[in-house]
Amino acid sequence: MGGSLEKKDKLHSEKLPRHVAIIMDGNGRWAQRKGLPRTMGHKKGMESIRKVVTTSSIYGIKGLTLYAFSTENWRRPREEVDFLMALPQVYLKRELPELMRNNVKLCFSGRLHKLPDKTQNAIGEATRKTENNKGLFLNIAINYGGRAEITDAVQKIALLVQEKKLDPGNINEDIVAAHMYTAELGDPDLLIRTGGEARLSNFLLWQLAYAELYFTPVLWPDFGKEEYDRALLAYSSRERRFGQLSRELGD
Ligand code: IPE
Ligand code: IPE
Ligand code: MG
Repeated sequence: MGGSLEKKDKLHSEKLPRHVAIIMDGNGRWAQRKGLPRTMGHKKGMESIRKVVTTSSIYGIKGLTLYAFSTENWRRPREEVDFLMALPQVYLKRELPELMRNNVKLCFSGRLHKLPDKTQNAIGEATRKTENNKGLFLNIAINYGGRAEITDAVQKIALLVQEKKLDPGNINEDIVAAHMYTAELGDPDLLIRTGGEARLSNFLLWQLAYAELYFTPVLWPDFGKEEYDRALLAYSSRERRFGQLSRELGD
């Protein structure tokens, strides 16, 4: 890790992913290694968010989905959960002017109605204020679970069947995809997970079917532009086959 990217390793815009998803992991360990409370790692992690959002905007990446809180994270100690639930307000208060300047459109996905009122108000306001922005589509997954999302989609589709608006035989992959929380964003091309673990932790189970996976031991608060460039460069050298044979692609 570390060191600058070589000149020959330049990123080419045509090889950049359209949609990047990130599991921002390692905040607690970052803080503990410094003898700080875990929550200080979450606070510091907001600076890394700023860096990837700005870099994604500059590069013209269309979508960025960040995993902020999983449906399983409620199992953490009360103090840590309370801290995490207050972070969207802190983040938005600090970053909204810059997000507006960068033309970023914000949205949030997850079981949002289960969040504390204050959190719901803050994210609702940010969504409304940025809804007409045409730049980067920044999707923050909060109280998000991949299985919960698929379950919610099944419920919505079942309702259409019950109301006789849809025939069960006509349910296809496009219809399932259209009932995911942020269907308009499409599937991520690249998934990055920081913090050294090589698992999905219930993130975007439907949408990641053909994503390129990139795991790095770098802890989220240490993840900056250089590390992001490294992940994008790794992506640019991958060959995505989607089940076909290599020579059938390209020509
Ligand atoms: C990721 O960092 C942030 C959230 C899950 C909210 P962690 O808090 O999981 O940090 P580690 O994995 O314990 O170091
Ligand atoms: C995944 O990290 C969730 C977020 C980054 C929000 P976790 O730290 O919760 O994942 P596990 O528990 O190690 O699988
Ligand atoms: Mg973790």
